Amino acid sequence: MSHLEKSGTFKLGDRTVKRLGYGAMQLAGPGVFGPPRDRAEAVAVLREAVACGVDHIDTSDFYGPHVTNEIIREALHPYTDDLVIVTKVGAVRGADASWNRAFSKDQLTQAVHDNLKNLGLDVIEVVNLRAMFSHQGPAEGSLEAPLTVLADLQRQGLIRHIGLSNVTAQQVADGRKITDIVCVQNQYNLAHRDDDALIDQLAAAGTAYVPFFPLGGFSPLQSSTLSAVAGRIGATPMQVALAWLLKRAPNILLIPGTSSRGHLRENLAVAEIELTSDTLVELDTIAKAPAH
Ligand SMILES: NC(=O)c1ccc[n+]([C@@H]2O[C@H](COP(=O)([O-])OP(=O)(O)OC[C@H]3O[C@@H](n4cnc5c(N)ncnc54)[C@H](OP(=O)(O)O)[C@@H]3O)[C@@H](O)[C@H]2O)c1
Repeated sequence: MSHLEKSGTFKLGDRTVKRLGYGAMQLAGPGVFGPPRDRAEAVAVLREAVACGVDHIDTSDFYGPHVTNEIIREALHPYTDDLVIVTKVGAVRGADASWNRAFSKDQLTQAVHDNLKNLGLDVIEVVNLRAMFSHQGPAEGSLEAPLTVLADLQRQGLIRHIGLSNVTAQQVADGRKITDIVCVQNQYNLAHRDDDALIDQLAAAGTAYVPFFPLGGFSPLQSSTLSAVAGRIGATPMQVALAWLLKRAPNILLIPGTSSRGHLRENLAVAEIELTSDTLVELDTIAKAPAH
């Protein structure tokens, strides 16, 4: 059995993917804007991920913009049948690298067509609608109009499944009245656990939960408890953070991001890491500790 198979699988739409996937945001330039410092390494990271068995890649055409999808296409097209590429829409980048909400019918339709073109696909397996009512995280607000546009593009055959990102439990419930929601992608990791209840609800419903910033994102997780556990079991702190997520709930699909093959190998090796119940209790204290 390969490393990755030990992480198990979960349903994503009508496909089944390994729980250890890859998030492609780090492949664009600094600030997720413009070309990467090392394009050849970005191509190599993607090829190695797929060669190691990764069958779930998370991306967006607003990474770069366009850059990340163009690199995915260069590295992996034509895609193997088992590869599920998930993208997200709902934002456009300003010339100053800002992230701006783009929810109109024209903007969403353009975004889906840009993803299809830059990835070289006829249909996108999963499109997440990224809600952006606040830059601080999920906030209430109606998603009815943009979801209705995506559901229409789904009926036209351009999208197979729809997911939601940066959303509240209420928005997930309301979204389900408009279309099937196959996954939710929110910020969640050892130290940021606002979605504990939502994850359990989604697990009961058989819906995938895909945490973004599993390693802390732009400010990687730092905790003395995490370092102590890692030292004791002979892993890195980042590996323990991912192994904890795999243990946290069966519907969690991991998409850690990296621009380096060295970190990719470390991240894919976590399926081999065992965490005892005592260690899990210890790691649980991280979210309760005061920020430092
Ligand atoms: N829906 C949304 O709103 C949203 C928002 C953000 C991200 N996302 C998605 O979620 C994915 C994951 O998030 P992310 O990439 O921002 O954050 P992340 O996975 O939490 O962390 C990535 C950071 O950790 C570093 N890193 C990765 N592996 C490491 C290792 N083994 N040891 C030490 N450092 C390591 C990376 O640097 P190196 O490049 O040097 O390895 C990078 O700085 C993204 O790729 C994207 O697809 C979605």
